[in-house]
Amino acid sequence: MARPKISLIGGGQIGGVLAQLCALRELGDVVLFDIVEGMPQGKMLDIAEVARVDGFDVDLKGTNSYADIAGSNVVIVTAGLPRKPGMSRDDLLGVNAKIMSQVSEGIKEYAPDAFVIIISNPLDAMVTLCQKVTGFPPERVMGQAGVLDSNRFCSFIAWELGVSVRDVNAMVLGGHGDTMVPIIRYANVNGVPVMEQLVRKYGDEAKANEVMTAMVERTKAAGGEVVKLLGNGSAFYSPASSAIAMAEAILRDQKRVLPTCALLQGEFGVDNYYVGVPCVLGAGGVESIIEFSLDEQEQALFDKSVAAVKGLIDELPTILPDLA
Ligand code: APR
Repeated sequence: MARPKISLIGGGQIGGVLAQLCALRELGDVVLFDIVEGMPQGKMLDIAEVARVDGFDVDLKGTNSYADIAGSNVVIVTAGLPRKPGMSRDDLLGVNAKIMSQVSEGIKEYAPDAFVIIISNPLDAMVTLCQKVTGFPPERVMGQAGVLDSNRFCSFIAWELGVSVRDVNAMVLGGHGDTMVPIIRYANVNGVPVMEQLVRKYGDEAKANEVMTAMVERTKAAGGEVVKLLGNGSAFYSPASSAIAMAEAILRDQKRVLPTCALLQGEFGVDNYYVGVPCVLGAGGVESIIEFSLDEQEQALFDKSVAAVKGLIDELPTILPDLA
């Protein structure tokens, strides 16, 4: 039986890690596409030449031609500029919208049956644009943000409580920007509420709230924290691993429940916008959206986050007049 095929559009920092992870996990044959000549070919040769040591049997190809992505089952897009220190993700809209529009045309023409996972920022707007340009059904076009944002939140909780991060469950909803919404109410360690553990740890509700607020704020600013430390470019290991979890869920029909940037059609009170919510990912792509009741404060924060996404979407026609 033929192996699945995964194409990675954008062979920069995240693209290179994605390619290596696909190979290490033997998810399928991998094509790395970039407009820079030689670079994707060089990276794929570099990874392929250690296959014996790493123990994988997949074909790896670097390319500058969209024709090579033909027959892809999954396409992961990282094409576009990363932010520099001091920039927000939203500042990338103008330049990355033009890149995403070109990339989406390439995917539409050469990989019309693929599931598409977008990583490029500003995420929610880029996913919206890709779905509009490709015209693919929404269950086949999604964005990676929530897996990473939620894992960052889980990590901060685990470090604070001194427990394994594998036992922490906490989710982040909404747009992948400064208004993202970490959900405190359901954060738990193997079912035990995190807030209760913080109150026991500090013996004081006010202090527990203060510690939780600091973790929420750090989660919202976590991408920027990495950007500032790196000095050049943005996080790349963590977005790559997070998108691989999504791709694997689809390729192996795992029915994983992963926070995903998906098209809401009435869920959570939102009509026709892409934002992050818990979804079931399997062989059908976004197979369902898991809706649950938000309390008044959560809903207000979620609505604010959706409003920020809408603001970016409204700007798209001025950047790409053909889209209007
Ligand atoms: N088509 C294909 N690839 C392109 C195009 C294009 N039109 N324009 C630029 N690229 C490529 C660049 O040549 C570069 O190799 O996209 C790659 C981006 O790689 P990096 O600059 O290293 O950025 P990276 O850290 O991988 O982040 C990519 O993901 O998380 C987001 O905010 C981040 O938008 C950024 C994206």
